[in-house]
Amino acid sequence: MADLSVNFCGVEMKNPLITASGAYGYGREYTDLYPLSKIGGISTKGTTLNEKDGNPPPRIAETPSGMLNSVGLQNGGIKKFLTYELPNLEKQNIAIIANVAGGTIEECVELVSMLEGTSVDMIELNISCPNVKQGGAAFGTNKDCAAEITKAVRNATSKPLMVKLSPNVTSISDIAKAVEAAGADAISLINTLLGMRIDIKSRRPILKNNVGGLSGPAVFPIAVRMVWQVANAVEIPVCGMGGISCAEDAVEIMMAGAECFQIGAVMFNDPYAPVKIIDGLNEWCDKNGVKNISEIVGTVKPW
Ligand SMILES: Cc1cc2nc3c(=O)[nH]c(=O)nc-3n(C[C@H](O)[C@H](O)[C@H](O)COP(=O)(O)O)c2cc1C
Repeated sequence: MADLSVNFCGVEMKNPLITASGAYGYGREYTDLYPLSKIGGISTKGTTLNEKDGNPPPRIAETPSGMLNSVGLQNGGIKKFLTYELPNLEKQNIAIIANVAGGTIEECVELVSMLEGTSVDMIELNISCPNVKQGGAAFGTNKDCAAEITKAVRNATSKPLMVKLSPNVTSISDIAKAVEAAGADAISLINTLLGMRIDIKSRRPILKNNVGGLSGPAVFPIAVRMVWQVANAVEIPVCGMGGISCAEDAVEIMMAGAECFQIGAVMFNDPYAPVKIIDGLNEWCDKNGVKNISEIVGTVKPW
């Protein structure tokens, strides 16, 4: 058995697999299937200051090799997270990554301040959210806005800070460098790609929100490319995600430069995917003479 453990920004994880924000809730639905302690970490559903109902349905649409979602940050708010979800996660022996989201910098600052002194191991700041004060363009699509929100949150938390990038940009490396300079400890990517489908009979968009985020295997090559570009642009560690659906995909994204990875959409197809991918990683390492999974990080040999 290979050593799959990783130390990511000082957070010890028994393996590099983290369940992605919004695709696994808080793990409650999975505890009947397998102990959550099998997985390395959980990134919780994006938490906002106040409870949010999210967008009206329909808000999920299947696509070839993927899915579109416009769930829109439905969550119970930070107080419910602290009093109801966190105590349950504390019992599971997994790294707890709190994914936070806000429409303003002040909201994000308040959120991370409320997480100080708790058992949360790491903050994942989602900068794909619309910036209310700047007319609704996502913080993560402009390097100055991305840096500004990162800096403010950095100053408000003593926990490791991972900033989650939006792929809906021209130069992902420029955004990555800006958040690194603003004090991020790590970068995670990719969030979903903006997409749209239309029902040609009714001529209506399938999603009530008209547009939504594409994820699943269809986005995997984009994720690999962006992880590789970012890992080569910054010194801080990278957590890769986007379309990973098997152990070989996990190996590939780690070879591109990710020290750990997250899985999302695949779990809608197969709730056992986390366990299968971890077992598959062990097998792959044994077959390929890899003693420690960290050996493969960034080992792609570009032409
Ligand atoms: C239904 C759904 C809800 C999501 N909610 C969030 C969220 O609240 N915060 C966030 O940062 N990312 C959210 N994401 C994005 C995922 O965490 C992940 O970045 C993306 O889906 C790409 O990975 P995948 O292809 O493995 O799903 C969501 C994705 C899906 C499918």
